[in-house]
Amino acid sequence: MQSVHRFGTASVRALSTSAKPPMSVVRALKNGRSVEVLRPTEDHRAALVAFARRPITMFDAMAGPGHAEAAADDYVWNAKSARHDALVAMVDAKVVGVAQLDPDVHEMEAPIDAGFLERCGVERSEVCVARTVVAIDWQNQGVGSALKEGQIEAARAMGYRAVVSDSSHAAVHRIVSRLGGTVQPGGLWTLVSTERPTVKRQ
Ligand SMILES: CC(C)(COP(=O)(O)OP(=O)(O)OC[C@H]1O[C@@H](n2cnc3c(N)ncnc32)[C@H](O)[C@@H]1OP(=O)(O)O)[C@@H](O)C(=O)NCCC(=O)NCCS
Repeated sequence: MQSVHRFGTASVRALSTSAKPPMSVVRALKNGRSVEVLRPTEDHRAALVAFARRPITMFDAMAGPGHAEAAADDYVWNAKSARHDALVAMVDAKVVGVAQLDPDVHEMEAPIDAGFLERCGVERSEVCVARTVVAIDWQNQGVGSALKEGQIEAARAMGYRAVVSDSSHAAVHRIVSRLGGTVQPGGLWTLVSTERPTVKRQ
């Protein structure tokens, strides 16, 4: 079966679907709350729509009638795809952050630097691209870190050797470095291996 995954103006065709092992990352946040990172199902659709309607999220790029519903559908579909994945960070029943894993960069993104991948010892086909958004009022509490740990677990389950992500936000450098990953010097990308235990607790 084929389906279309959309992100911003880009769309990527990919084969679905596969059974994935269940996953759950639970972490204590700095504000004393607890966050759980898991794959969204239909049960999370309403909470995803609510997140997508919040201002300044990744879904802004898709703003328009029905954009939040379409984004939520994409997330639920991605969670079932063999080569894509989607994660939600839940505090109680509310989505406070989301992440997606994709085998490809999107049309509006820079290509992944081949030299960077080579220096990290991985092939292009062995890595997936992660994108993360945490609601503004939940940032700097540990949600993004929990989502990154979830990405690593999810990528490993799909057979990827590493997760790469855009390094344009200094918080991403911090998270990736803490997890034992690599920040491209002077460049755009970060990489975290799925092949070794990476979490450095402080
Ligand atoms: C990047 C993002 C996902 C991080 O999520 P988060 O929940 O704030 O991340 P965490 O709280 O787990 O960790 C952030 C860390 O970066 C640090 N940090 C935040 N802003 C920073 C800055 N400008 N410079 C240096 N460190 C910074 C925080 O102090 C924290 O480190 P600490 O835990 O040691 O104190 C979030 O900021 C976001 O959604 N940004 C908008 C979308 C985006 O840029 N996504 C990344 C590209 S895929």
